[in-house]
Amino acid sequence: MQLRGTTVLVTGASYGIGAALARSVAQRGATCVVLMARSADALGHVAETVTAMGARALPLAVDLTDDAALASAVHTLLAETGVPDVVISNAGSGRWLAIDETEPAEARAMMAMPYFAAFTLTRLLIGPLLARGAGHLVYVNSPAALLPWPGACAYSAARWALRGFAEALRADLHGTPIMVSTVVLGMVESQYFAHNPGVAERIPRLARRVLPPLSTDQAAAAILDGIERRRRLIIAPAALRGLFWLHAVTPWLVRRLTLAGGWRRGVSGEP
Ligand SMILES: NC(=O)c1ccc[n+]([C@@H]2O[C@H](COP(=O)([O-])OP(=O)(O)OC[C@H]3O[C@@H](n4cnc5c(N)ncnc54)[C@H](OP(=O)(O)O)[C@@H]3O)[C@@H](O)[C@H]2O)c1
Repeated sequence: MQLRGTTVLVTGASYGIGAALARSVAQRGATCVVLMARSADALGHVAETVTAMGARALPLAVDLTDDAALASAVHTLLAETGVPDVVISNAGSGRWLAIDETEPAEARAMMAMPYFAAFTLTRLLIGPLLARGAGHLVYVNSPAALLPWPGACAYSAARWALRGFAEALRADLHGTPIMVSTVVLGMVESQYFAHNPGVAERIPRLARRVLPPLSTDQAAAAILDGIERRRRLIIAPAALRGLFWLHAVTPWLVRRLTLAGGWRRGVSGEP
């Protein structure tokens, strides 16, 4: 699907990868970009850039974990722009913590964002998408959805939930014209690490050694290239594809390397 002339919804569009996606979508000729996130001011700045690039911008400040607020935002979106052609569920957060460092409330919050937010947004839009008979649903995820590593227990579980949802949704939608893609990105130089303290320190050595960090613009370009080429699984950078391939062939080796250079408990088992 070419993005020229389309309406694209991007969640988490106030900062980082989402803001870069919004700008890049406009650059590729989208007619309208709908922006969702909580920070109204930051969304406004991104919307101004999108408008300056010649696309219509509809910023909707919403907490995606608030079902009623999200339903109201989707109502506004459908009334103002009609059914989006592409929906990119990109918003995400979550600290990397071992199980005994994670309060149950924080584990639930990590499921609320990104998994339940993506589920609810999709649930609200699926009827209109099916009625229109076209659409592309895209879920931005982490390598933790394929390769778990130590010290990020609830985070990994939430990313597996998001990946499982996308896979099951594709099966649900089999035979319909709605396409489903998962995006898996390595390290991206965004404010994620400032927004989620402690994450940067727990990146396994293997990832630091073999995965060159992407800029947010590079991540956005990889995602949009994948959408335009109708890829079901979009992986960037290329070295990450190699790592997944190695994991498929010799899972024990990648597991050993991930554990060897990852977060470790103290000698008495304490975090
Ligand atoms: N950075 C990386 O290395 C990396 C690697 C792989 C995957 N990812 C994934 O890529 C996505 C984007 O991350 P990023 O690096 O751009 O991080 P970021 O700079 O922290 O941006 C996260 C975005 O999500 C939004 N968000 C968070 N909670 C929200 C909520 N409850 N309701 C609405 N919006 C919410 C934030 O906006 P507000 O705060 O304004 O609400 C912000 O726009 C995430 O899903 C992340 O897991 C990142």
